Amino acid sequence: MINSLRGFRDLLPPESDLFARIEAAAREVFGLYGYQEIRIPALEKKELFVKSTGDTTDIVEKEMYAFTDGGGREVAMRPEGTPGIVRAYIEHNLGQTGRSGKYFYIGTMFRAERPQAGRYREFTQIGAEHIGNPSPAADAESISMLIRLLEKLGVEGCSAEINSLGCAECRKAYREILLAFLRARAEKLCEPCRGRIERNPLRALDCKIDGPALAEAGPKRSLCPSCTEHFDRTQHLLAAAGVSYKVNPGLVRGLDYYTGTVFEVRTTALGSQDALCGGGRYDDLVKSMGGPVAPAIGWAIGEDRVAMLLKDKPAPDNAPRTFIVAAAKEAGDKAFALLTSMRAAGISSDFSNFELSLKSQMRSADKSGAAFALIIGEDELKAGTCAVKSLKEHGDQQTIPLPDAPSHIKQLLKG
Ligand code: HAM
Repeated sequence: MINSLRGFRDLLPPESDLFARIEAAAREVFGLYGYQEIRIPALEKKELFVKSTGDTTDIVEKEMYAFTDGGGREVAMRPEGTPGIVRAYIEHNLGQTGRSGKYFYIGTMFRAERPQAGRYREFTQIGAEHIGNPSPAADAESISMLIRLLEKLGVEGCSAEINSLGCAECRKAYREILLAFLRARAEKLCEPCRGRIERNPLRALDCKIDGPALAEAGPKRSLCPSCTEHFDRTQHLLAAAGVSYKVNPGLVRGLDYYTGTVFEVRTTALGSQDALCGGGRYDDLVKSMGGPVAPAIGWAIGEDRVAMLLKDKPAPDNAPRTFIVAAAKEAGDKAFALLTSMRAAGISSDFSNFELSLKSQMRSADKSGAAFALIIGEDELKAGTCAVKSLKEHGDQQTIPLPDAPSHIKQLLKG
């Protein structure tokens, strides 16, 4: 017996149904906002993530499934979707086609984290990236689309926490001040932070050990006039769109490419794994990866975490409408044809095994949750009919000609 790997799991029904419903709702919302799908590979050159996600991030330093393939290439399983989307945008000149730069993706990501509830080594992200629009309206649209999607899914009490990290200039100035502050108290920092101070002092802010104290006692960010205006305007538009949000000056994101607006949606319902979604602007990433100047904003939802929140909500009834039963040895062919014609008419239908006894087939019909059993016995076989029996209410059995069965059942289901 070979088991699955730790942190990797099978999605079985009904959880797999829940994932399909979440994805269908996401596709509907993306359509409404003009987003188009991009499917990116699960395996990329390792360098892509080192250069974009960032070589001092936990994701790249500790969590990436990276290896040398048979041809000696350094490759990595994607830990997130944004780098692949940006690579595809540049590689296929998507900025030049004049088409909308709004893309979504749904796919599994890989991070070798310590598995626990809501945290897996293979997990699914639903992501949205809007590339090429520097306007605060793009920020407000992206965040409000996220909140609308979570509301549509029935995730309760979702509100965004937002912050602005400022442009490259603001970040540079802040980096210097932070660096001086961290150097002065280096001996009080945890081991990894001490190692990171010189390489990337901003990383210390999202350290699980030192981050909270640094947010309290450390130097505060200040934004240049243009970043201040952008952030104010974003908030104004969010309020106008009826999105509830809170400014959290301590919100930093654990990836290197963010500039300007960043945000997260958290929930207390998931224990420590409380981030449902994270995102933000990355105005310099496309250019730094060899593409054109293309300011961008995006986010990714952790679908596994959303599914955890929704798993106790009543699922829509996906029981078959009819269950076909053959109550005579020779009735199997006709029963199978009836099954085919019901499905062709758009009525979900099922069966068990036409060779089993009537009693056993009826037991399966009851268990299936179907509304009606359609039974073909000896008499029906001779007359070219079937018996319709309600499985939900006691009532008379009716007999109808086989060709009328789909329209007859449609009428009954309406009533
Ligand atoms: P992230 O914050 O690293 O951002 O991940 C986004 C979401 O993925 C998290 O909020 C969480 O719900 C989910 N997630 C992350 N790790 C795991 C895990 N091990 N198990 C289950 N769920 C997990 C990004 O990945 C960025 N690419 C988001 C983005 C898009 N920013 C701009 N565009």
